[in-house]
Amino acid sequence: MPAKIISGNAVAKSIRNDCKERISALGRRAGVVPGLAVVLVGDSAPSRVYVRKKLHAAQEVGIVAHLFEFPSNVAPEAVLAKIDELNADPRVHGILVQLPLPPQFSIFEVLHRISRDKDVDGFHLYNVGGLVVGDTIFPPCTPFGVMKILEHENIPIEGQNVVIVGASNIVGKPMALMMMQAGATVAVCHAKTRDLAQFTILADILVVAAGVPGLILPQMVKTGCVVVDVGINRLADGRIVGDVDFEGVVKKASYITPVPGGVGPMTVTMLLSNTITAAEKSTMAPI
Ligand code: GUN
Repeated sequence: MPAKIISGNAVAKSIRNDCKERISALGRRAGVVPGLAVVLVGDSAPSRVYVRKKLHAAQEVGIVAHLFEFPSNVAPEAVLAKIDELNADPRVHGILVQLPLPPQFSIFEVLHRISRDKDVDGFHLYNVGGLVVGDTIFPPCTPFGVMKILEHENIPIEGQNVVIVGASNIVGKPMALMMMQAGATVAVCHAKTRDLAQFTILADILVVAAGVPGLILPQMVKTGCVVVDVGINRLADGRIVGDVDFEGVVKKASYITPVPGGVGPMTVTMLLSNTITAAEKSTMAPI
């Protein structure tokens, strides 16, 4: 039997409805409207597309979203000064600096300048540390979205073999920590892994975030495996595809996420959720 194709759009819609309710409740309780500031440096076409989606989705649920743009040759000090200003602005609850940044930037310097209370991407060391010990406030959006998809489909994680392909700071590493926290046995593969298939074939749940179209072939997955494809690749003919040979693997897996329409909408949705969390926390007395 072919796999169930999980609609990330449907899961995202249900969470975005919850977001709207949380925003209404926050307005009634504290008179606060969540605010998100997005910082975009340079003119990378994919980054522009992602940022437009984030701003549009934020406005659609009732978050006030502002874009701050800088040219690619901007001095890092100007961006750091903008972050300082946004950190101090009580109308802004979440700050996101779209990555990648041009080469004159130290990414860590920028990410760590964002107030840990407004770090809705979850990339600040404080939140990364929280993730390591199982107590983060802002889980990074893409792996958080993957967890929500699995939860929505009632797919158990505890005791399962989870194999993650890709070890980035944005997806692979936080994904591994979240899966470990949920009781999985986790293997993380990456570009230097020898014989990828010997790992992927063991996976009960396979999460692929490598950025290589067609990397995962049907013979590399176990029958009945749950396959989550985080890849977003634009082919020469303009088509958007994931990292998984969808047509082949769909015949063997039990569940699979498509590209587009799988994990992508969930990344944006969890950013909305984290921004509302930041706004909710801003109304509570510090412990
Ligand atoms: N670039 C690619 N993915 C992301 C993300 O989740 N957050 C930010 N800020 N930049 C990205």
